[in-house]
Amino acid sequence: MIEILSPTQIERARVTGRLVGNTLHTLKSQSQVGTNLLELDEWAKKMIHDAGATSCYVDYAPSFGSGPFGHYLCTAVNDAVLHGMPHDYALENGDLVTLDLAVKKDGVASDAAISFIVGTKRAPEDEAMITATEEALAAAIKAARPGARLGDLSSVIGKSLTDAGYLINMEYGGHGIGSTMHQDPHVANNGRPGRGYKLRPGLLLALEPWVMQDTDQLITDPRDGWTLRSATGARTAHSEHTIAITDDGAEILTLPR
Ligand code: MF3
Ligand code: CO
Repeated sequence: MIEILSPTQIERARVTGRLVGNTLHTLKSQSQVGTNLLELDEWAKKMIHDAGATSCYVDYAPSFGSGPFGHYLCTAVNDAVLHGMPHDYALENGDLVTLDLAVKKDGVASDAAISFIVGTKRAPEDEAMITATEEALAAAIKAARPGARLGDLSSVIGKSLTDAGYLINMEYGGHGIGSTMHQDPHVANNGRPGRGYKLRPGLLLALEPWVMQDTDQLITDPRDGWTLRSATGARTAHSEHTIAITDDGAEILTLPR
């Protein structure tokens, strides 16, 4: 079922969106050489609880993971891309990190992710890959308005990532969001324009372009049954915002403010 939110629910989504944006912004600034992924998870937990919100992750047990996630933040370092489970690891100079966070308050969820490099060792290929996912996300947000179709967003993301030289994995993409984190419709990171569901005001979408440096194949880390890594060990990047379709375009809900 595709959920259309009321103006009151959108107002609540602005609140959770801002919380997600601000928390990710703070956690990024706390991600220094030597910061442990478990510390980041603890800080996320505290910021969520201090705001009177709840985590969409901690009890989440979907078919694509092994048991409840049990953490508050996804931390994906270097070859990890999605559903990165925090573990005892201290960040090193040059690590490429993705933090992904979803929270719920007053019955409405928001979801976002950012990728960045830790420290001073900044590989140009990593910077290019992060920029590619940010640009694909920005292009899709620009194309999002009432009357546009899901396929339009998918094709804009796909073209942007392909033009930048990356392969696209079609197993995991964006999604509807609202009273729960993962809802219909699925927003593939490639597709054909003019196809699929027509966007309407009040629809919330989490758009999330992500790529791996040299492959489109994933493996699940057998140590935790959750973390998805590139099959080749190559590095990865991921950018996500929750947006609301408005009367004449789209509003980004998960910006830090
Ligand atoms: N927020 C992720 C997404 O972008 C989902 C993470 S689910 C978790 O859709 F359980 F792994 F945390
Ligand atoms: Co998401």
